[in-house]
Amino acid sequence: MKLLSLSTVGFLNGVLAIPYSEYILAPTSRTLYPVSVHSSNGSVSNAESLFGSSGNAIFQGDSATAYDFGKNIAGLVTLTIGSISDSDQYIGVTFSESSLWVSNASCDATADAGKDETLWFKVTGPGQYTAPRDKERGGFRYMTLVHNTTGSVEVTAAEIHFTPMPHWEDDAIANYSGYFHTDDELLNRIWYAGAYTNQMCTIDPTHGDALVHIRVINSSVSDATNVTWYYNYTITNGKSALVDGAKRDRLVWAGDMSIAVPGVVVSTNDVVSIENSLDSLFDVQNQTTGQLPYAGEPFPSTLSFTYHLYTLIGVADMFLYTGDLDYLSSHWDQYKLALNFSLSFIDDSGMMNVTSPADWLRFGMGGHNIEANSILYYTINQAITLAEALEDTEVVSSWQNTAETIKSAANALLWNETAGMYIDNETTTLMPQDGNSWAVVSNLTLNSSQAEAISFNLAQRWTPYGAPAPEAADAISPFISGFELQTHFLAGNVSAALGLMRLQWGFMLDDPRMTNSTFIEGYSTTGELHYAPYLNDARISHAHGWATGPTSSLTMYVAGVQIVSAGGKTWRIAPALGDLKFADAGFSTSLGFYSAKTQINDSGFEIDFEAPAGTTGEAKFPVLSCTGSILMHEVNGQCEDVLLEVTEANVDGIAVANVPGGQWTVKATCA
Ligand SMILES: *[C@@H]1O[C@H](CO)[C@@H](O)[C@H](O)[C@H]1NC(C)=O
Ligand SMILES: *[C@@H]1O[C@H](CO)[C@@H](O)[C@H](O)[C@H]1NC(C)=O
Ligand SMILES: *[C@@H]1O[C@H](CO)[C@@H](O)[C@H](O)[C@H]1NC(C)=O
Ligand SMILES: *[C@@H]1O[C@H](CO)[C@@H](O)[C@H](O)[C@H]1NC(C)=O
Ligand SMILES: *[C@@H]1O[C@H](CO)[C@@H](O)[C@H](O)[C@H]1NC(C)=O
Ligand SMILES: *[C@@H]1O[C@H](CO)[C@@H](O)[C@H](O)[C@H]1NC(C)=O
Ligand SMILES: *[C@@H]1O[C@H](CO)[C@@H](O)[C@H](O)[C@H]1NC(C)=O
Ligand SMILES: *[C@@H]1O[C@H](CO)[C@@H](O)[C@H](O)[C@H]1NC(C)=O
Ligand SMILES: *[C@@H]1O[C@H](CO)[C@@H](O)[C@H](O)[C@H]1NC(C)=O
Ligand SMILES: *[C@@H]1O[C@H](CO)[C@@H](O)[C@H](O)[C@H]1NC(C)=O
Ligand SMILES: *[C@@H]1O[C@H](CO)[C@@H](O)[C@H](O)[C@H]1NC(C)=O
Ligand SMILES: *[C@@H]1O[C@H](CO)[C@@H](O)[C@H](O)[C@H]1NC(C)=O
Repeated sequence: MKLLSLSTVGFLNGVLAIPYSEYILAPTSRTLYPVSVHSSNGSVSNAESLFGSSGNAIFQGDSATAYDFGKNIAGLVTLTIGSISDSDQYIGVTFSESSLWVSNASCDATADAGKDETLWFKVTGPGQYTAPRDKERGGFRYMTLVHNTTGSVEVTAAEIHFTPMPHWEDDAIANYSGYFHTDDELLNRIWYAGAYTNQMCTIDPTHGDALVHIRVINSSVSDATNVTWYYNYTITNGKSALVDGAKRDRLVWAGDMSIAVPGVVVSTNDVVSIENSLDSLFDVQNQTTGQLPYAGEPFPSTLSFTYHLYTLIGVADMFLYTGDLDYLSSHWDQYKLALNFSLSFIDDSGMMNVTSPADWLRFGMGGHNIEANSILYYTINQAITLAEALEDTEVVSSWQNTAETIKSAANALLWNETAGMYIDNETTTLMPQDGNSWAVVSNLTLNSSQAEAISFNLAQRWTPYGAPAPEAADAISPFISGFELQTHFLAGNVSAALGLMRLQWGFMLDDPRMTNSTFIEGYSTTGELHYAPYLNDARISHAHGWATGPTSSLTMYVAGVQIVSAGGKTWRIAPALGDLKFADAGFSTSLGFYSAKTQINDSGFEIDFEAPAGTTGEAKFPVLSCTGSILMHEVNGQCEDVLLEVTEANVDGIAVANVPGGQWTVKATCA
């Protein structure tokens, strides 16, 4: 018998099998059925028969069954009706993402108050009854069927047509280009739930905006059970759009994208949806001032200093992950106009004075705010990189001076050395999660000890449910906590980063009120599913792209596969496993495939990594617990072996620069 050679393992009928595909939550078919019964009341026989396509559930008199799909899904419902007692029968359908709002009278909510109405079907005879296209539901794990009259209705199927990722082939929604695995099952599930959350937030742009009642139904409306919802606003051009949330708002929000985008790149690399969304924001830029919108249409025009900048970060991210110079050029004039708009708010303090409160729904956003100024500092530095790529460098030295001025002013006015954190602005003692995280992420910090202090101090604040944001009435923000994760990694505090993922995202996955598949928008430090900025708890989105920070962080910082420039022309491999023994990740950009697989062992580690030919990168290795040597070997014999000696002096920072793309194996051996 001949053993399969290594290179043929993984191929099936010529198709490369997707590694670790058993973790992928995306369905392999768009037709979905319930997997279990949550609860049932009144007379329902054979409720379980609706787990497949040919059932015979009979609803008699006042009765209802709540079905569970086992994970958060989205789409259009079709009921197939068998026999009915008479032609005056109704079946109603309600939806909920969380088990908290399962009901036979209403859905969870998309408006600021009340609950969404039941979707009623008047059943006049056997056949299929499909919801109108505007009445798809963007996120639900539970679906309740309710019968409200005397007589009976036989339901033979309750089927959902899954609508996310509308631009992908029906059988390819689970065909990820990226993968991730470690020896920690919780982290594995977190990575895949983040990837799936972003797919749930990738929608048909002609079915955006659940906020049909924006600024009409507000908290003064009592607990109504009949709020209408219609997904019928066209929010972008193209065939798909990346939006904030699956159930709501189904709008383009650039801030949310700053976390979602790198998560998309390392899992599905669905860049076209990102570009459609960014383009929709530039389409409504004020041509005179350069101001970009807080959110895409039809959200009312509002100035947000941070979300304005996040749109520019989106452009820089697209250039980083695609290297597409044409795309960058197409927005460059708009980009510069928008950056100048932000720069015009810099006053004689050297910092931007924020004069509009709109941000991620935190409170007290104004003045010389540390978060906004860090984001501006970050954006200016990206602008310099982009200008160099486009060879439009006239303005670069002025941008460099401005960036340096912001940095020195922020450190002089807002850094509290005793506390080891930045204050929100110079009139307060509040030390925000967002601004302290962003100061590290943007490298507004002057040295590594500041970053280490911030990381340490943020970690001191955790509650049993995660990292609080004191600037948002102590809410837990999975959005800002995504930047806190990056902060811990950048500060070299891998154990805090992994600890926060397990604590906060573990709760967000495993708590029975959650969907066990997608990540929630926000909640309270006490673990209640109440999010400080909202009065209506049923409105909270359980699939929000801004909550997917671990997906990109695990790939980039734990497995250590990083794109450094222009679609991956340069890259960095820098595994940092913390308490893990194994990490394996890979993903593709238009330039090719990048991966790193690290196994920690008694003599140090073994790493297999890969980058496309014609690229170059840096390899930075985990700290060895012994002195010895590291041997780097290019599998295809493209390069000579590299032998590094590990001594007491260099054990902390062993890195090799200018490594050519190829397939490398690395072996550490103790002396
Ligand atoms: C509807 O749900 C309520 C609880 O919210 C329950 O008391 C009632 O029996 C249910 N009615 C039907 C017809 O299922
Ligand atoms: C059935 O009634 C129970 C208890 O009142 C309630 O918790 C549950 O949500 C109801 N389920 C349905 C489908 O009506
Ligand atoms: C059942 O619900 C439908 C739709 O709301 C309504 O028209 C009908 O009057 C209800 N029937 C009863 C008996 O409540
Ligand atoms: C997606 O993956 C499945 C299973 O591997 C395969 O059968 C199918 O052809 C793929 N679809 C596309 C469009 O690549
Ligand atoms: C619910 O319906 C009632 C009666 O039609 C109406 O008065 C009320 O305004 C509705 N509530 C909402 C929030 O639409
Ligand atoms: C969405 O549907 C509602 C209800 O039919 C309608 O009032 C509204 O004008 C529609 N909006 C758009 C943009 O089509
Ligand atoms: C652009 O901004 C200027 C100045 O605030 C304002 O007067 C003008 O109406 C805006 N234009 C549009 C199209 O909103
Ligand atoms: C300064 O920060 C505090 C705390 O967040 C806030 O209450 C206050 O409103 C901020 N000042 C301005 C001008 O926004
Ligand atoms: C920021 O600008 C506003 C509006 O011009 C002004 O009232 C406020 O004093 C300024 N804040 C600071 C800290 O300069
Ligand atoms: C700096 O922080 C310390 C400790 O939190 C506090 O006691 C002190 O008042 C702060 N200093 C200033 C200038 O706000
Ligand atoms: C961060 O800023 C410091 C100076 O404050 C600089 O030495 C360092 O190179 C910067 N790091 C990065 C990654 O740009
Ligand atoms: C959550 O989902 C995972 C698969 O991702 C499954 O193995 C596990 O049993 C689920 N947990 C619960 C409580 O349903």
